[in-house]
Formats: sequence, C-alpha cells, structure tokens
Amino acid sequence: MVTGGAAGIGGGVSRRLAAAQATVVVNDIDPALLADLVADIEAAGGIVVGVPGDIRREDTVRAVALAAGSVAEGRIDVLVNNVGDYRPNGRFLTTGPDEWNALYALNFEHVLRCTRAIAPAMVERGTGSIVNVSTVEAFRGIPANAVYSAFNAAVNAFTRSLAVELGRDGVRVNAIAPDLADTLQTPVASMLRGRDPEMVRHWVPLGRFGRPEDYGDVVVFLASDMARFVTGHVIPVDGGTLAAGGWYLRSDGRGWTNLPDAP
Ligand SMILES: NC(=O)c1ccc[n+]([C@@H]2O[C@H](COP(=O)([O-])OP(=O)(O)OC[C@H]3O[C@@H](n4cnc5c(N)ncnc54)[C@H](O)[C@@H]3O)[C@@H](O)[C@H]2O)c1
Repeated sequence: MVTGGAAGIGGGVSRRLAAAQATVVVNDIDPALLADLVADIEAAGGIVVGVPGDIRREDTVRAVALAAGSVAEGRIDVLVNNVGDYRPNGRFLTTGPDEWNALYALNFEHVLRCTRAIAPAMVERGTGSIVNVSTVEAFRGIPANAVYSAFNAAVNAFTRSLAVELGRDGVRVNAIAPDLADTLQTPVASMLRGRDPEMVRHWVPLGRFGRPEDYGDVVVFLASDMARFVTGHVIPVDGGTLAAGGWYLRSDGRGWTNLPDAP
C-alpha cells in the first residue's frame, strides 16, 4: 500500500512493487494521475487497485485500509507512507500556525494515521514492513524550510522508536531520505533554475539527479525479505549529497568548495 503513489517517488515505488509481483494498493489525491498509473501497471501485467483521496483526511485513510484489507486475502505486507511536501515554505519568522499545521498534516500526521490503521493487521499476522519517506533535510539544516525539516525529523524518530516497539511482533519499520528527485514537486527545470545542466556533476557525487525508480528500488529492498534483519533505519537515497555535506567540486577542477557559485 503506497500513499501518494501515482507519480514522483511514490510512482516509482508503486511501479517497482508491482514489477516485484506485489498486489499494489495505490492512494493518490489526483484521480487523473492515478488512472494513468493504474493503466500503466496493468499494461505491464501487474495487479493494482487505485484509491483516490486526500490522505490527510481520516475517511481516506479508512478507505485505503479497507481496500488494502480486501485484496490478497486481507494480507497487508507493506505500507509505504510517501506523501510529503516542503510547501508552504518561507523564512521561519514570516510563518505562523497556519503554515506549521499545513506542514504537519502533509509530512507527519498521515504517517501516524496510516500506520495506526494498517499496522495492527501486520502485528496480528506477525509480519510486515513499513517504509516511510523522509528527506535528507531532516539530517542537515535547510534555510526557509525549518518546519518541514523538523516534521521529517519527527518521521525519522517515529521510524526508529516504532521499529523497537514492533520488532518482537515481526514488523520492521524503516525510512528512506531522498534528495534531488526529478518529480512534479521538484522538476529538474526548477532545480536548475536556468543553470547549466553540466553543473549537476559538481553538486552530486553520483553526477545526476534522482529518478523515481532509484527510490523505488530501495523501498522494494526494505520491504522485501532481503532486508529481513534491517529495522529502525533511515537510508539516504541521495546520490551522495549528504556524504558530500555541502562541499562541491570546483568548476576548474582544482579541489572543492562549499560555495558552488564561486570560481
Ligand atoms: N522530490 C525530492 O527531491 C524529494 C526530496 C526529499 C524528500 N522528498 C519526499 O519524497 C516524497 C515524495 O516526493 P515527490 O517529489 O515524489 O512528490 P510529488 O509532489 O512530485 O508527488 C507526490 C504524489 O503524491 C500525491 N499527493 C500529494 N498530496 C497528496 C495527499 N494529500 N494525499 C494523497 N496523495 C497526495 C500527488 O498527486 C503525487 O502523485 C515526499 O514525502 C517528499 O517530501 C522528495
């Protein structure tokens, strides 16, 4: 079961899970994107059920849990809490409770709600894997996004603590922390903002932006039995940006800089 699974990172996760023979229940707020995703997966021979709706709403959480409980003889093996957004962003001192509550609803509250709705069936069966989608910005400071960063740090803390709590019930809980994905939220054009695409190799150790399937593959690994001894971790899927820590290859090739606009 994947929230926000029609496009972007969630789309990569849904497609990769379907390719791995999972029956995938996909929630998305955008019915048109969801219809396209369902058609694509079915055309590729996969099995998918689409559940449209805003995952911030409790009735959508219930509808998704109901749909997930009614396929594959009620077995829910994997829950991927993917929905999240850095907007509304802005300098902290210009924001207030309306912006904070919006970021809470988009980035953390539904993770609690969906997990509360789905995990009991996993505990009952003694097996399951929950994968949350966080961000590298929960590990480092990001100006104009302090509240987004804080709620994603909450996702990471929830991931670790719940993993400890549910370990003896056979349920694993992990997260991925993406960076620089080419998605609707952060398309390459908006990341480049007119700059030379050649610059990407200076910013990202692996030399390119992320594609939805890069994240999908790691989620499939965490969801699968291959990761049977892995729980309570947040795995950056970032092409190396967190490891580089804000230091970039100089364009003249002479060492590194933390000021990538400098020569
Ligand atoms: N794009 C990046 O570089 C990046 C970096 C770090 C973390 N992330 C995280 O990865 C996750 C996915 O990001 P993305 O860039 O693929 O996002 P996206 O906005 O491109 O795609 C999100 C998908 O979720 C759906 N969606 C949005 N709000 C929803 C809601 N309330 N209920 C149900 N569905 C909803 C959208 O229709 C879309 O299909 C988010 O949690 C985001 O914070 C992304």
